[in-house]
Parts: sequence; structure tokens; C-alpha cells
Amino acid sequence: MRQKIVAGNWKMNTTVPEGVQLAKDVVAAAAAVPADVKLIVATPFTHLCPVAEVVKGTRVSLSAENCADKEKGAYTGEVSAAMLASAGCEYTILGHSERRQYYGETDAKLVEKVKLALANGLKVILCVGENLDEREAGKHFDVCEAQIKNVLYNFSAEEMASIVIAYEPVWAIGTGKTATAEQAQEIHAFIRKVVADKFGAEVAEQTSILYGGSCKPSNAHELFAQKDIDGGLIGGASLKAEDFIGIALGY
Ligand code: 13P
Repeated sequence: MRQKIVAGNWKMNTTVPEGVQLAKDVVAAAAAVPADVKLIVATPFTHLCPVAEVVKGTRVSLSAENCADKEKGAYTGEVSAAMLASAGCEYTILGHSERRQYYGETDAKLVEKVKLALANGLKVILCVGENLDEREAGKHFDVCEAQIKNVLYNFSAEEMASIVIAYEPVWAIGTGKTATAEQAQEIHAFIRKVVADKFGAEVAEQTSILYGGSCKPSNAHELFAQKDIDGGLIGGASLKAEDFIGIALGY
């Protein structure tokens, strides 16, 4: 059985006290969610240590939103995978489309980041997905395939056990436009096949593939009911504990 996951990506939102309160609210509401659904909050770097204290000993796991592509040293402003692990992170998101679009995140850099994250005992949520032009040109399969091959094909079947894939069509992020359940299922099944081509059917069957992009309590159930959708990576709706937990109740 694949791990079901609902992860909140807070992005660059909330002050530290607001984030601590949000984490407390998520922990308080989490009991309603079936025990086989893993809940994760991915917070800004500044929030990780205090939120780690809030989620310690609860069913909620902590994630970062990014990490450096270098191990340590003179890289002003960067945060290393070792720092994240020591702050209490279990996961880090990598390759989010906002980082690819605004901060020059390349697949080559992502290979380094994934390596360092895994070497420091972190699990990775690797984001892939096409933009609107690519979707309209019918290139979405090629784009996702290339992103997965360029990054994940550098790792081993054993390492894949620590990697979650998040399919996030850029045109659905923060736009209120969700991929239909059919569109999402189609590409999730394709992504699983790309994983199977390299690592075999067994690894592909074990790999959790999350959907992200305008996921909300009203559409989560239909999305999560699809055979190859193993949960969600939630942006805007993760900023309210009630909505975030409402989405997780979609299982
Ligand atoms: P929204 O849920 O706000 O569309 O964001 C999705 C996302 O980018 C999660 O990483």
C-alpha cells in the first residue's frame, strides 16, 4: 500500500507567531483524519524550529520548502539539508514551480539538492508539472517525463523509497482552476509509468504521487478517489487549519 499524504505548503506566508498558531490548529484538528493519511506542514525556514516543537510527538510531520544545493560553507543566505534535519524536518519540498520560475531552479541543481537531502536523512517531495503554454501545446507528458528523468533517474530504487512526487500543473496553482480528476489521473498514471520504466513496477507501485493546484475541501474527494492520486500538496487552502484538515478528510 502506498502512503497517503496531505501536505500543506505555506509558501511565503504567515509570521512566526501566526505559523506557530496555525501548526497548533492543525495538530488539534488532526485527530479527525484517518490514521493512514500522513499530514505534513511545510513552513518557511524561520518557522521550522518553533513549529518542530509544536508537532513533536504528534502525527503531523515537518517539511521545509527548499534546501541549498551545496553542503556547507560560504553561501550567504542559503540553508543546508543538514541544518533542516537538525531543525527537526522529516521532509523537504524541492523543485517547486515557483522556484523553477522565479529563482532559476534547474534540474541539474535539483539533482544536487536531492542528493544532499537524502544524504542528511530527509525525505523529498519533488515537484513536477507543465505551464499553460505547454499544456495547450499538448506537451505536458513530455515536460513531466523530462523533469523526472533529469532528476530522479540519477537515483537508485532504494533511494526512491524516500522520494514523493508532486504533480502540480502551473496553470492550476493559485488560480482557482483545478485539473479535472480525469486530467490529473491521466498524468499521474503516466508519471508512475515513467518511474516504472527505470525502477520497475514494484517501486512505482510504492511511490506516492500527490496532486497540487487549487485543491480545496470541495474537490479533494474526487481527486483522491483516483487510482494514481495518493494525496495532495496544498498551497492557499493550507493556511487555514479547517480547510487543510477538510481536504485531508477527502479520503
Ligand atoms: P494552491 O493550492 O494555492 O493552488 O498551490 C498549490 C501549490 O503550489 C502547492 O505547492
